[in-house]
Formats: sequence, structure tokens, C-alpha cells
Amino acid sequence: MKDILTAPFLKEMCATTANMYRLGWDERNGGNISYLLDNEEVAQYLDLDHVIRTIPTGFDATPLIGKIFIVTGTGKYFKNVQSDPENNLGIIQIAKDGTTAELLWGYADGGRFTSELPAHLMSHMARLTVDPDNRVVMHSHPTYTLAMNYVHELDEKKFTHTLWEMCTECIVVFPDGVGVLPWMLCGTNEIGEATAEKMKEFRLVVWGMHGIYGAGKTLDETFGLIETVEKAAQIYMLTAHLPRVNTIKDEEMVTLAEFLGVDYRKDFLNL
Ligand code: 13P
Ligand code: ZN
Repeated sequence: MKDILTAPFLKEMCATTANMYRLGWDERNGGNISYLLDNEEVAQYLDLDHVIRTIPTGFDATPLIGKIFIVTGTGKYFKNVQSDPENNLGIIQIAKDGTTAELLWGYADGGRFTSELPAHLMSHMARLTVDPDNRVVMHSHPTYTLAMNYVHELDEKKFTHTLWEMCTECIVVFPDGVGVLPWMLCGTNEIGEATAEKMKEFRLVVWGMHGIYGAGKTLDETFGLIETVEKAAQIYMLTAHLPRVNTIKDEEMVTLAEFLGVDYRKDFLNL
């Protein structure tokens, strides 16, 4: 058996959480990540028949039975993941009943997976129906994205359009736009279901006055999606109170999207 601390997926989780903390997106225990792993790869590091303990999830994840995820722990600080992965991360397998998580590694101090597991696993289920290669769901509280929530209408067309206007590459990076949910009680199955519904259509979902969810094939891709939204939100917040002299026109976005062959949300432009 290889040493789990040398596993590429574990090292990637450490690097990603450290980067997110460094950027100020994940204060205290803010944010959480779930990453769908390859069972054969995990079996190189762990005995998949050795369950440390079982933890009920409180919802049905039947389509994910047998699947293994590495997930950040609830109440754990992203700042601490790199130096102490075994307490701050856990590797869980969805049991045959679809409603229990079997702990294979981690949460060593008796902890458990993020309180946002419903939003994560329900989003995985939704994304896998539209993209079988989706592996990552990431939640974060990026500063400017959150600031923008307080001064911009929480309307998905208007919110996406404003972000697209802020950096030329936005329409290329997230041509499918950004879904938006109103403020809702977090950590519940209800917000999980609402997020998953949006995830059928979008890889990015803003939780009003709370933060953002991203989904993608890799940690890098998902991080990059949130990073690009955050950059655009930063430009917006740096300029929203100033007279707008120049702007990227909708026709210019079309020119770029068509030049690069990107399938964008045409109904999110004002043509
Ligand atoms: P957890 O500590 O349970 O992951 O919660 C953090 C968070 O961001 C809640 O939305
Ligand atoms: Zn949060």
C-alpha cells in the first residue's frame, strides 16, 4: 500500500485550499470542497473494505453508491489543511443504502464532512447527468463576488452580463453564465436541492449574500472558474461608483465568442 500523504489528489486538495485561503476567499472555516476520486486509484493507498466509521448523510444519494470522495471537514479551516490533512479532510464512500457515508480515512479527531454535503453531493449528481467527467464541487466566499451581491441585482441574466462586461475573457471562461439563488438557509437539504437544480444549467451558482459554488472536471478548472468570476467582480467593485466611460459591447462579446467557437448564453446578451 502506498502512503496516502503522497497521493496526487491529496496533495492537490492541500494546494488548492492553501491557495483559496491565501486569496482571502475562505476565512475561518468558510468554504468546502468535494472531489470525486477514482476507486482504483484510491485502492492503491487505502483498503476499501476497511471502514473506520459510518456517518449518516440525511439525504438520498443513490446515483453515487460506491463512489469515493475526498471532502473538507465541517468547522475546519482551509488555512490548516496543508499542515494537517488527516484532521481537516476525509475520504468517504457512499454506502449501498445511498444515505450513509463510510469513512475510509481522515476526520481523525472525530470530525465529519462539511455541513454543505447536501449541496455538494446533489450538485455532483446534477453535473454528472450533463457532464460525466465532472469531478469537483467547490464552495467559497470570495470577497469581491460577495461585495457585488450587496450592490448589484441578484438576477442571473443581469449578474452574468455585468461580469462578462468586466473582463474580455469572461464570456469565454464561463459562457454558460452564472446561476443565482436568493439568500437561503445554508447547510440544509433545501439549499442543496436548489443548488443542484441550477447546476443542471450552470457550472457556477451564486448563493445570495453568502458566496459561490463552482463545478468542474478538475480542481484547477473549478478554481479557475471562481477565480475569473472573482476577478470580474473586483473590477466591477473598483469601478461601479465611477462614471463608466468605456465598456465591452455585446457585439464585441459575440465577435469573440464566435471567433473562439464558444457556445454562450445568447439570451444573456442584449442584442
Ligand atoms: P463547513 O465548515 O461546514 O464546511 O461550512 C463552511 C461554510 O462555508 C458554510 O457555508
Ligand atoms: Zn459558506
